[in-house]
Amino acid sequence: MSKSLFLFLCIASLLCFCDAYKVLVVFSLSGKSHSILGYGIVKHLLKTGHEVTYITAFPEESSDPNLTQIDVSSNMVALPKSYKESLNLKTVLEGKAVPLDFDIIHNLMNAVEMNTYQIENVSKLLNDPEQKFDVVIAEWMFTEICVGYAAIFNAPLIWFSSVQTHWIITKLIDESLHPAYNAEAIAHSIPPFNFFQRAHNLWTQLQVFYHLTKGRQETLYANEIVPIIKKRGLVPPSFNDLLYNSSLVLSNTHVSYAAATRLPQNYKPIGGFHIDEEVKPLPEDLKKVMDGASNGVIYFSMGSNLKSKEMPDMLKKELIKMFSDLKYTVLWKFEEEFFDLPENVHMVKWAPQHSILAHPNCVLFITHGGLLSTIESIHFVVPIIAIPVFGDQFINVEWSVRKGFGKRVDLSYTLAEDLKAAIEEVFANPRYKEIAKETSLIYHDRPVSPGAELVHWVEHVVKTKGALHLRSPALFVPLYQKLYLDVLVVILVFLIVLYKTARCLFFKEKITNKKKNN
Ligand SMILES: *[C@@H]1O[C@H](CO)[C@@H](O)[C@H](O)[C@H]1NC(C)=O
Ligand SMILES: *[C@@H]1O[C@H](CO)[C@@H](O)[C@H](O)[C@H]1NC(C)=O
Ligand SMILES: *[C@@H]1O[C@H](CO)[C@@H](O)[C@H](O)[C@H]1NC(C)=O
Repeated sequence: MSKSLFLFLCIASLLCFCDAYKVLVVFSLSGKSHSILGYGIVKHLLKTGHEVTYITAFPEESSDPNLTQIDVSSNMVALPKSYKESLNLKTVLEGKAVPLDFDIIHNLMNAVEMNTYQIENVSKLLNDPEQKFDVVIAEWMFTEICVGYAAIFNAPLIWFSSVQTHWIITKLIDESLHPAYNAEAIAHSIPPFNFFQRAHNLWTQLQVFYHLTKGRQETLYANEIVPIIKKRGLVPPSFNDLLYNSSLVLSNTHVSYAAATRLPQNYKPIGGFHIDEEVKPLPEDLKKVMDGASNGVIYFSMGSNLKSKEMPDMLKKELIKMFSDLKYTVLWKFEEEFFDLPENVHMVKWAPQHSILAHPNCVLFITHGGLLSTIESIHFVVPIIAIPVFGDQFINVEWSVRKGFGKRVDLSYTLAEDLKAAIEEVFANPRYKEIAKETSLIYHDRPVSPGAELVHWVEHVVKTKGALHLRSPALFVPLYQKLYLDVLVVILVFLIVLYKTARCLFFKEKITNKKKNN
């Protein structure tokens, strides 16, 4: 290629990097893992030159001039004690945690999201007529009240789903998934279902449908969001019209760690996008520990919500004793100081998880089975032992066990003993590591990286003014038509009329015959 042609192409491609968009990203929930996903989206958008306003409970340290962050960490007050306790290891061990069903979570999340709309700096943004966005990305978390942002800014809406694919979200862009072979978001079992699981799944779906008919979101929308839309001089759409008008769902899933569910055209599984392509180097002290672990490192972390320090002292001591008998080095993410540790056990208050898992000496990850930890274990090819505690952890763990790279251990007072047996099994059986490798291959083998896919679809929605061409026709077909109830009624009526007419004629014939005979 001649130099001048090359130069021309370079300039042309620069000029062609046409549009930088203004994106509003809303992640209100004050959970660390949610904010890791939220910031993951933000980073990809900033990197491609877009301007982002990020509503978050965990603002990041960033000096990027194209990023504006609005701190909504005060949201935490909207979460009641019962919710926080369901995340406490001690409460769960004692069996005192309130089970969170859809109805409870729906109410909680409505409270959190409505609180966000009212936080001073958010309210300022919403009421500022100068503020305009090309697209809104909001996390779906058991409430759909975030559709308000799309109406306020008259912009297309993209949902982000942090959990495995489930019917409540596919219903928004297509239709409910069939309960006979699709699990709930916070289920404890995965397909294939037995008779009782299938019945239970249907029953749960019906209950959620019932709760959604109570119209709580409609009332909140009418009372608190419609006035903001009107103030901007826009005509507020009905809540139902807004609800079924989202452009896309970006989902933190991938077929490598879940079911091969049939998906709508505007549902994009981009699981793994939050992991940077280049892993940051380990801090010096950690690097020394991991480099020197000749028999390998077991990394133990219950994530950011569940605090290991909440475990009863007895259990902590038993775990440390059990770890000290192993030939492996154990790295435990623990939030308090611990003295007199055995030589092979190291505690860290903060753990750079990606860098630890990426280290070639990391041989096992003991986790709570949160989706991010599960994805990272696959990304870096480390088998897991998972101790599920709440939310979607049970279903993630069921999948890792089914696929074969994970082993489940239940949280109980005999945790140390059970964990020891599980560790022995995982190391004795090479299948765990082999399947971790196979799963990782499936996970990595995609036409483009999940981050590039994320950016592509967000830009696609803006370029095509809401990607109306991706909308499923199923959205506009009511249930009675899907079940062909109307056709059935017509056939029934026809058959009844036919039968009656035939009977009449037959009767008449009989009577005339009788008369004749008489
Ligand atoms: C900020 O966005 C503008 C376009 O809006 C872009 O030209 C610029 O390179 C971006 N700055 C950074 C630091 O990415
Ligand atoms: C609101 O935003 C301003 C800057 O725009 C900031 O100084 C202030 O601390 C924010 N308030 C809260 C409560 O976060
Ligand atoms: C539905 O979305 C499209 C594309 O984003 C938008 O043009 C339209 O105004 C929206 N309709 C309603 C009722 O919000």
